[in-house]
Amino acid sequence: MSDVPFRLTSLNTVHDRAAFNSGSEPLDRYLRELVTQDVRRRVAACFVAVTEKHRIAGYYTLASASLLLADLPADKGRKLPRYPTVPAVRMGRLAVDQAFKRQGLGGALLADALDRAVRSEIAAYALVVDAKDETSSAFYLHHGFIALPDAPLTLFLPLATVPIPR
Ligand SMILES: CC(C)(COP(=O)(O)OP(=O)(O)OC[C@H]1O[C@@H](n2cnc3c(N)ncnc32)[C@H](O)[C@@H]1OP(=O)(O)O)[C@@H](O)C(=O)NCCC(=O)NCCS
Repeated sequence: MSDVPFRLTSLNTVHDRAAFNSGSEPLDRYLRELVTQDVRRRVAACFVAVTEKHRIAGYYTLASASLLLADLPADKGRKLPRYPTVPAVRMGRLAVDQAFKRQGLGGALLADALDRAVRSEIAAYALVVDAKDETSSAFYLHHGFIALPDAPLTLFLPLATVPIPR
């Protein structure tokens, strides 16, 4: 990863949300204008990578979710109980500031999200993401995610395959 030391932590009021620029206006606007409300209402948790000066270099959100068993690839669904839905954790958003892209931070944020999902005492079958386009889905495929057969921009990674951090 980059030499810039980042701290991975929950978003708080000290962090400078206004300066964040991922190159994706909806992702930047969400961090600027909407995320604190979602966190307050407990519909999302937000985690950030911050520099020593409290600059946000990247962020992601996590929330509970579910997947329809029927939407999973047959070889995965077959091994699960016959309930209509499977519990999951959704990473609703993931973005890295343009100044910090391609330095390993996106991968580090994804690893942090997987760690949190795996460490939780509440079981979830997979981390699920909704990629905004094919470039984003390529990032998740690169990290081992599996696309839903009928909705290829929705991808999941079974958490049983993720090592439990010590
Ligand atoms: C997608 C995004 C989060 C990646 O962040 P990043 O910090 O540039 O990525 P990293 O440097 O951590 O890359 C980690 C690995 O993923 C690979 N990678 C990065 N972007 C990729 C892409 N679009 N497609 C395929 N692989 C990609 C890198 O080559 C690297 O591979 P390696 O570990 O084998 O060397 C960032 O580009 C971003 O914020 N994009 C705009 C928002 C977005 O698309 N969010 C995704 C969810 S909607």
